[in-house]
Amino acid sequence: MFITRKIPEQALQIIKKECDFRIWDQEDEPVPYHILEKEIEHVDGLYCLLTDNIDAPLLQKAKHLKVISQMAVGYNNINIDYATERNVMVTNTPGVLTETTADLTFALMMATSRRLVEAIDYLKQGCWKTWSPMQLTGKDIFGATLGIVGLGRIGEAVARRAKGFNMNIVYYNRSRKADTEKQLGVIYKPLDELLAEADFVCVLVPYTQQTHHLISHRELQLMKPTSILINVARGGIVDEQALYEALTTGQLLAAGLDVFEDEPVPLNHPLLSLKNVVALPHIGSASIETRTRMAVMAAQNLTTALKNERPPHLVNSTRFK
Ligand code: DGY
Repeated sequence: MFITRKIPEQALQIIKKECDFRIWDQEDEPVPYHILEKEIEHVDGLYCLLTDNIDAPLLQKAKHLKVISQMAVGYNNINIDYATERNVMVTNTPGVLTETTADLTFALMMATSRRLVEAIDYLKQGCWKTWSPMQLTGKDIFGATLGIVGLGRIGEAVARRAKGFNMNIVYYNRSRKADTEKQLGVIYKPLDELLAEADFVCVLVPYTQQTHHLISHRELQLMKPTSILINVARGGIVDEQALYEALTTGQLLAAGLDVFEDEPVPLNHPLLSLKNVVALPHIGSASIETRTRMAVMAAQNLTTALKNERPPHLVNSTRFK
């Protein structure tokens, strides 16, 4: 089997015990596509990351492939339909990153609303000459209305945190969640209503053809000029050009972004030039504990599938009964 990046030792040990493997063991550099094309011809298992483009032409070369184990919960980098057509199992790492990603969502809400990055720069650049009444004033989180777009595991974890801040919580989801509504006191709203009411809109839906540019010009126009958009899901869900316009024309107060349409985001990207944008390099799940758990879970998924057993976190589960 082939591993597309250096992974934590605990995960590697699991794989070492069970399989022969080759690895692209560069810390910070994705495996080039042409190398992946060569490797995939011979292997029965692939351990990959969200930075690897597992598309149909690549899968066509994978004559012996049984399983693709992705070390992430999202898998929009993999052509699932085509993998399924070719009888290749695809697994992911749900659950283990929920709380860590919810923490980061909240960190972005706080950083944007209280202008933390601006304030740090202000201090370090020697602009802080005195305390003054309206200096670097931001927006309160407590008591504000939070709109969660996509009430999955992470959305629910964000809602639990929001309760501690006494927020009013509204959500939009493909299907209503009666139990969660009761448990967490969250209120369902159609997307347009949520956008019009929320002070903070957190985007937490998976990235699919249906959610591509789910938040674009029309949706941003519905939002209040005092509201803040947070995206910790996938960049392609938010139309970045439309977001730039909204942030520069006063249509939106601020944005907190952990993800971008193109990653790594180019340094000359217009959004990076804005003071009211807090931008992070896709670190939603990046705690040592969580990344280690994700790596181990992906290793377990992979080795289970290679033993011809059903892996616990199968994405295309309907195909493999
Ligand atoms: C995922 O798992 O999909 C995140 O984006 C990275 O942890």
